Amino acid sequence: MNIKTSRRKFLQGTGAALGAAATGFPTFAIGQTAKIKIGIMMPFTGTYAQLGEAGFNALKLALTASGGKLGGRDVEYITLDDESNPARGPANAEKLIKESNVDILYGTVHSGVVMGMVKIARETGTLLMIPNAGAGAATGPLCAPNIFRSSFSNWQPPFPMGKVAYDKGYRNVVTMTWKYGAGEEAIGGFTEGFTALGGKIVKEIMVPFPDVEFQANLAEIASLKPDAVFVFFAGGGAAKYVKDYAAAGLRKSIPLLGSGFLTEGVLQAQGEAAEGILTTLHYADNLDLPTNKKFRADYKKAFNKEADIYAVQGYDAGLLLAAGFKAVKGDTGAKAELYKAMEAATIDSPRGKFTLSKAHNPIQDIYLREVRKGQNEVIGVAHKALADPARGCKLTG
Ligand code: PHB
Repeated sequence: MNIKTSRRKFLQGTGAALGAAATGFPTFAIGQTAKIKIGIMMPFTGTYAQLGEAGFNALKLALTASGGKLGGRDVEYITLDDESNPARGPANAEKLIKESNVDILYGTVHSGVVMGMVKIARETGTLLMIPNAGAGAATGPLCAPNIFRSSFSNWQPPFPMGKVAYDKGYRNVVTMTWKYGAGEEAIGGFTEGFTALGGKIVKEIMVPFPDVEFQANLAEIASLKPDAVFVFFAGGGAAKYVKDYAAAGLRKSIPLLGSGFLTEGVLQAQGEAAEGILTTLHYADNLDLPTNKKFRADYKKAFNKEADIYAVQGYDAGLLLAAGFKAVKGDTGAKAELYKAMEAATIDSPRGKFTLSKAHNPIQDIYLREVRKGQNEVIGVAHKALADPARGCKLTG
C-alpha cells in the first residue's frame, strides 16, 4: 500500500464526519475518526504460544495509559495465529493487509515467519512493528523506513556471552540450537564473541524446529566433555531442554549457558533444574528501576502472570507506537512524520531507557543474569549500550 491508498482508506473509514478531503491532514478533529486497525500476527498455538500471548497482552497494557487509543483514535485488534509457520508467513501478512485493511502489522515471535512479514511490509509500505523476532535481515539488508523492532537482533543477546564464557576460563564449548534463522544467528553471535578471544567451538549441534527430543544429543555432549555448553532455545522447547539437561546428569559437570530466552517465561516449568544457569539478555526480572517495578505489578494484576521479556518487548512496542501516533495525532497517512517521531523516541522501558539505531533496532544494555530462586536476577552488565552492527542496512536515519 502506498501513502495515497492508505490516505484514501483512512478517509473512507472516517466517513462523513470529516466532510471533503479538503478537511486536510493532520488537523481533523479527534473523536470523529475511524479506528486504527492493528493486525496481530503472533503464534497463539505451538511451542511459542505463550510468547505470542505475552507480546499481545503487554501491547494492550501499554495502550491503556492512553485510554486504549493511539494518537487519540480508538484501536481495533485483528488477531491471526501464525503457528510459527514460515511457509504461511507472506500469505498471512497479506491477508491482514488486503482483506482486513490493517493500518499496522504487528508481529511476530519466529524469525522465519517475520521474514514473510518483512517482504509484504516492504511491498505494501505498511508499518511493521516487530515485538520479538530477531531476524538480522529485518534491521540489516532488508531494513526499511516502515519496519521497526522493539526487541533485539538475534546477534545482540548472545554476543556478549562470548566474553563472559571466555573470562570464566572456558575454552572448548559445544553449541546447540534449533536449525532455523534465530538459532543459527544466535549461535553466530556467541561464536563471534567467543572465538575472537581465542575460544573454540568443538561441535555445533542443530535439531529441526520445533523438535524436543534431545536425549541423543545430550549423550553426545556428555561424551565430548566440553568446558561448557551454549544454547538457543525458547518457549516450550526451552522448558524441556533445561529439564532434560539436568535429568541427563550434565548440570553439575558441564555448565549450561544460554541466550536469556532459555529461562524466560518458563522458570516455573523448569523448577530446580534451572537454578544457577547463566544467560545474557536485554532484561532481568529484578532490575531496580521504578518503571520495571510498576510494569511487573501492572502486568501481574492485569493478566495474573509474571512478566517476562516477551511482555516487556510488547509493552515497549506499544510505547513506541504511542509516541509516533501522538506526534501525528493519529493520522496514519502522515508516514514520514510518524516514522520520524518513532525514530526520535526515547522509550522508558522496564529494561531501562533505550533509543533506536538508524536501522530501527534498540540500542540496549545486555545484562548477565543468573537464575536464583526461580527468578532471572541481574548480576552485571555484560555489554553496555550494544547496537546491532546492522550489516547491509542502507537507512541513514
Ligand atoms: C526468533 O525466532 O527470532 C526468536 C524466537 C523466540 C525467541 C527469540 C527469538 O525467544
